[in-house]
Amino acid sequence: MSAPLAEHIRDARAQTDELFRLLAPAAIYERPIPDRHRLIFYLGHLEAFDWNQICRGALGLPSFHPEFDKLFEFGIDPEPGAAPTDQPHDWPRVAEVTAYNLEVRRRLDAVLAHAPDQIVQVALEHRLMHAETFAYLMHALPYEDKAQRTKIIETGARVESLMLDVPGGCVTLGQDSGRFGWDNEFIEHRAAVPDFRMAKYKVTNGEYCDFVREGGEVPPFWTDHAGSWFYRGMFQESPLPLDHPVYVTLDQARAYAAWAGYSLPTEPQFHRAAYGTGTDQERDYPWGDNTPTTQFGNFDFAAWDPVAVTATRAGDSYFGISQLTGNGWEWTDTAFGPFPGFQEFPFYPGYSQNFFDGKHFVLKGGSCRTAACMLRRSFRNWFRPNYPYVYATFRLIENI
Ligand code: AVJ
Ligand code: FE
Repeated sequence: MSAPLAEHIRDARAQTDELFRLLAPAAIYERPIPDRHRLIFYLGHLEAFDWNQICRGALGLPSFHPEFDKLFEFGIDPEPGAAPTDQPHDWPRVAEVTAYNLEVRRRLDAVLAHAPDQIVQVALEHRLMHAETFAYLMHALPYEDKAQRTKIIETGARVESLMLDVPGGCVTLGQDSGRFGWDNEFIEHRAAVPDFRMAKYKVTNGEYCDFVREGGEVPPFWTDHAGSWFYRGMFQESPLPLDHPVYVTLDQARAYAAWAGYSLPTEPQFHRAAYGTGTDQERDYPWGDNTPTTQFGNFDFAAWDPVAVTATRAGDSYFGISQLTGNGWEWTDTAFGPFPGFQEFPFYPGYSQNFFDGKHFVLKGGSCRTAACMLRRSFRNWFRPNYPYVYATFRLIENI
């Protein structure tokens, strides 16, 4: 395995260790999201995954704690209404899990150099994905369950949206076979996209207010205090920032779009808007081919909450569209499914395939808590249309 990858593993561990430190100790047995495991599961899951994939799977090492390897192997995504019923005392004590984690790291670090790059990259991105899923789990906790941290949320005047032309063209979906991607990113192929129009900005809280005033569903991160809307931030509430994107479910995004007389983009339309140019050449990122640094957008752990939709102009796409990467995943109207020629990873067959059920939809782009490596063009995220916990925004389009 290559040396830089080992360094990325260390950085990613520091990132997830820091998250657990932000938790009040007693909160580790809470279940902030009813259809996900208690937080204690995630404490064991990251190391169990690394152990199962790298040491047990790829290198064939014998297990030193088969019970935990199994207990912490997989998360859950139950059908609506089928939430788990386990109790805190069904789970091991924190000290036992911490000891398991330390032992995994000790044994893993001793053999990491012999592990295949692909599996190490899988483990790395899996950990970083959970740095995001754990952040939104923590987001759902009451403030007293988190170590205090102040973050002043700045709010500006309402931003008026603007529809921009996106000329049709060919897009590349998926990842080059010589580069790393998850199973659902293969096989790379092209798709034609006709002309359409797309909003320069993500839909804002300010705009969404009009919809709520006319009976639209209240979005999940809003809360009402004495007749005024507040945004429920990671560490504090703030008067609703009117120029920030609104976090919504896909159902809410669809309802808003129908009310406003627009549509949501498909996955290929998102690609065209984000990566297309005036020629056949596509960009690696909306802003060009430069690697993602936070001057281009609100991502890679730059913040705990969104910033204004106008705040990151250096990240605009060739067609002038803002924040197609960062400041909130964007819902597409494309059901999560296999690309032509899809083959599941033999070492993790359920990673994507379990969700090719027409009940999960593709999100693109990334949020303030998405690691830079997952901002690549081919990365696909997915959730259920009514899942209200994720950092998911949306944007309107007009098919012409
Ligand atoms: C790709 C973010 C939808 O969290 O459900 C983590 C990633 N899969 N461990 C999820 C995942 C297994 C997955 N998402
Ligand atoms: Fe996982």
